[in-house]
Amino acid sequence: MADTYDFGLVGLGVMGRNFILNVADNGFTAYGNDLDQEKVNALIEEGGDPSKVNATTEVSDFVNALSTPRKIMLLVPAGKVVDIVIESLLPHLDKGDIIIDGGNSFFTDTDRREGYLQEKGINFFGAGVSGGAKGARKGPSIMPGGSREAYQYVKPIFEAVSAKYKGEPCVAYLGPKSAGNYVKMVHNGIEYGLMQLTSEIYDLLKKAGGLTNEELHQTYAAWNSGRLQSFLVEITSEIFAQKDDLGDGHLVDKILDKAKQKGTGKWTSQNAMDLGIPVPTIDIAVSMREISALKAERIKADELYGRPKPESVVKDTLVSLSEKALYFSFIMTYAQGMHQLADASKEYGYELQLGEIAKIWRAGCIIRAALLADITEAFQADGNLQNLLLSPSFVSKVQETVSAARELVSYGATNGIPLPGLSNALTYFDAYTSGRLPLNLIQAQRDYFGSHTYERLDQEGIFHTEWED
Ligand code: 6PG
Repeated sequence: MADTYDFGLVGLGVMGRNFILNVADNGFTAYGNDLDQEKVNALIEEGGDPSKVNATTEVSDFVNALSTPRKIMLLVPAGKVVDIVIESLLPHLDKGDIIIDGGNSFFTDTDRREGYLQEKGINFFGAGVSGGAKGARKGPSIMPGGSREAYQYVKPIFEAVSAKYKGEPCVAYLGPKSAGNYVKMVHNGIEYGLMQLTSEIYDLLKKAGGLTNEELHQTYAAWNSGRLQSFLVEITSEIFAQKDDLGDGHLVDKILDKAKQKGTGKWTSQNAMDLGIPVPTIDIAVSMREISALKAERIKADELYGRPKPESVVKDTLVSLSEKALYFSFIMTYAQGMHQLADASKEYGYELQLGEIAKIWRAGCIIRAALLADITEAFQADGNLQNLLLSPSFVSKVQETVSAARELVSYGATNGIPLPGLSNALTYFDAYTSGRLPLNLIQAQRDYFGSHTYERLDQEGIFHTEWED
């Protein structure tokens, strides 16, 4: 059966197995490769028909079974493993073959690999894949970056397997080099922000409103039928309904409050700092995972410091304010992520189309949300839109919800309930929409102690003052 399979995939873990079965479901023949014989056997068995889905532990058999130009996707852990797999494939490949890294690789690693493989005549794609195991099986959102010419070979397969939003595939060629990995990294930064926001609103509803898990389930489910409709709000509502099968009560109450992270949110934050683009809601979402990890210290500190007993509130009012504040802060999070993409596009020469990115996030990925249809329209209406907040179509959405954010942030501050994502979203909004900020004073201080100079509002030029005289 040499030379006949349309698509190859290395790494038959849960994501890889699901992705390859999805490829086969869509009429393409697919061949898998993994060092683990059990995973190979499991795929062959699940595939049912080896002429459609087959697999091997042998790299040379795997490569030889693929039609040229070979399209080989890697779904292996990001980092060294990607380089090891590339090296193992290389001796068997021909010029013009295509390797696609579908993991969450750091974008500079993708640039390095692309340059290295280009010298050998091999095309390399960094393609972010979002949607978890279920998405891989039923339709993920795919974010490919690399050679535009080589994309034509990958396009039919990616368009077939991707999620569809009203019939439109949630995949598009995003740009050269590491554009795909970069976009996926920022997707994950936004994911961190949205998750932080949904969790702090849960805290507020529980501590201030006394909502039970059943009420939380109903509240998030109702929100998911409205403008907050999104994958994360939907799964949050389902999480509150989950009973604990190892004991009494609900599972959510038994889960340790220490959130882990694999690094993509932190990379988003770090790179935003390098670019000089503010993404405070994403930054604080990363910091909150770090604070959450300090469980033992938090328990000690909790005993040392008292905290006010939350003032009672009218439940319905709190729920209604929370819906508005969540919507407001979701907008701020997407605005920050899109702003970072716009700037990164210039800095790294990605030529990103932000409307196209929002479009392929409308289904399949973790941050999919009804709001993304509006974001798509805003960026399609103005291809040079610097920030979502400058889109006329978002002004009324923000104006209608910002006061709820103000009320809840002030309630949280008075009553000792941490709402860092929400307050950062609000501060971001207030600062970004301030024509005049007090940073003139910082310039004066810098010039005072370090002769760092300043500019003036009323005259061109660079000025310095001998302040102490
Ligand atoms: C996706 C997700 C996925 C990511 C997890 C875990 O789009 O399907 O972003 O790629 O690996 O969300 O990320 P953390 O472990 O960093 O929370």
